[in-house]
Amino acid sequence: MDKLLITGGRPLQGAVRISGAKNAALPVMAATLLAPGVHRLRNVPRLRDTQTFARVLELLGAKVVFEDHLLTIDTQSVNSVEAPYELVKTMRASIYVLGPLLARFGRAKVSLPGGCAWGPRPVNLHLAGLQAMGAALDIEHGYIVASNVKLKGATVGFDVVSVGATVQLMMAAVLAQGQTVLENVALEPDVTALGEVLVACGARIEGLGTRRLTIQGVSALRPIDATIIPDRIEAATFAAAAAMTRGKIRLEGVVPGHFEAALRKLEESGCAVQRGADSVGVSGPARPRAVNVVTQPFPGFPTDMQAQMIAVCALAGGTSVIEDTIYFDRFTHVPELARMGARIELKGNVAVVKGVDRLYGAQVMATDLRASASLVIAALAAEGETLIDRIYHLDRGYEALEKKLGALGAQIQRVN
Ligand code: UD1
Repeated sequence: MDKLLITGGRPLQGAVRISGAKNAALPVMAATLLAPGVHRLRNVPRLRDTQTFARVLELLGAKVVFEDHLLTIDTQSVNSVEAPYELVKTMRASIYVLGPLLARFGRAKVSLPGGCAWGPRPVNLHLAGLQAMGAALDIEHGYIVASNVKLKGATVGFDVVSVGATVQLMMAAVLAQGQTVLENVALEPDVTALGEVLVACGARIEGLGTRRLTIQGVSALRPIDATIIPDRIEAATFAAAAAMTRGKIRLEGVVPGHFEAALRKLEESGCAVQRGADSVGVSGPARPRAVNVVTQPFPGFPTDMQAQMIAVCALAGGTSVIEDTIYFDRFTHVPELARMGARIELKGNVAVVKGVDRLYGAQVMATDLRASASLVIAALAAEGETLIDRIYHLDRGYEALEKKLGALGAQIQRVN
C-alpha cells in the first residue's frame, strides 16, 4: 500500500493550479443520466472518486472516456438501473444516480450507502423528498428499489440544509411533471453550478443562489457541455499549508468567493491574503494566531476544512476552539495529530486546540479524505520525517497532491 514520506520544515513557495472540484463533478456526472446523448465535461479532476463514478455509469450501460481532464459520457446506451453495493459503499455520492434514474426511467435499484468513517450519514431527506414527488420507494436487502414511478412536482422543505438532498431533488424535479418548490436548499457552489449546468441544457430553475428553488419540469433536456468549477477545498487546503509553513504561494484558476470563509479565518490567524479575479495570494505568518471556528453550511466555514484548520491551530500561539456543527464525529485526525505533538482536547463536537511551538514528524495513519489532508499539512510544518499510511483516502479527493506540493518546494514522496 502506498504511503507518503514528508520531511517538514520548508516554506511552500510558488504558484499552484487548482483542479476541478470533485464535489461539483460528481453531481454533474450523475446528471448525464437525465438526457440520452453524448455529454462533455471539462476540467474534471483525475481522482479515484471520479473514476469510481465513471464505473457506476458504465455499469448502468453508459460509455465513458476520460482523456486528460475531458470526460465524455454517452448515456444513449444506458440499459440498467442498478447501482450495486460494491461501488456505492466505496463512494456515497453514487446515491446521486437515484433521482436521475427515477426521472428518466421511472425505476431504480440503488444500494443504501451505509455509514462512513465519521459516523452515520443519513439519506432520509433524499428519500422523503422523492416520496413527496410520488416515488414509492421500498428498502429491500439494503437496496432502495422503485418501479413504475412517474415523478410529479411537489413542495419539499428541508429541515436541515443538505448538499446531497438538494442536488438529488433538483435532478429529479427538472424532468418531473409540473412545478417543484424546494425550500431551505444548500447554497454550496457545487449546488449552484449543477443548477446552471441543468439550465444550460434546457431545465427551468428559478432562484439559484437563494434558499428557495422553483423548478418547472420539462419533457427532455439536451446533453451537457460544461466546465467543472475549481475545487474550493483543494484551494483552501493549500492556503492552510502556506499558513503553517511560513509559505508564500499563489493559487491559480480559483473563484476566491467560493472559499472566502476559509480565507477570512486564515487572515484572522495572521496570513496576508490577496484576492485577484481568478487567483489568490497567501503568505503565512511567522506563527499563526489562535482562532475560533464553527463549521456552517455555505457561505459559512466548510466542514471539509475543519481538519486542516485544526492542524493550523495546532501550531498557533494560544488556544483555539473548533466546533463542527455539520458532522459531530468528524475528528479522526485528532489522535493522529496528537502523535505529532499537537495538544487537542475533544469534547463532543468541539476541539480545544492548545497551540504548541513545534510539531514533530511521526508515523501516522490517514483515516478519511480531509483528515488525511490535515496530516499532510501538519507534516509539511513538522520537524523531521512523517510517514503517512493509507493515503488512498487522499487519492479520492486531491489530484496529484505530491506533485503539486513538490513543485512548491515541499520534500514529499510516495513510497510503497
Ligand atoms: C457535507 C457538506 C459538504 C461536504 C460533504 C463532504 C454541508 C452542508 N455539507 O455534504 O459541503 O462537501 O459533507 O464532506 O456542510 N442530513 C440528513 N439527512 C439527509 C442528508 C443529510 O440528516 O438525508 C444531514 C447530515 O447528517 C448533515 C447535514 O444534513 O448533518 C448536511 O448533509 P449534506 O450536506 O447532505 O452532507 P453531504 O452531502 O455529505
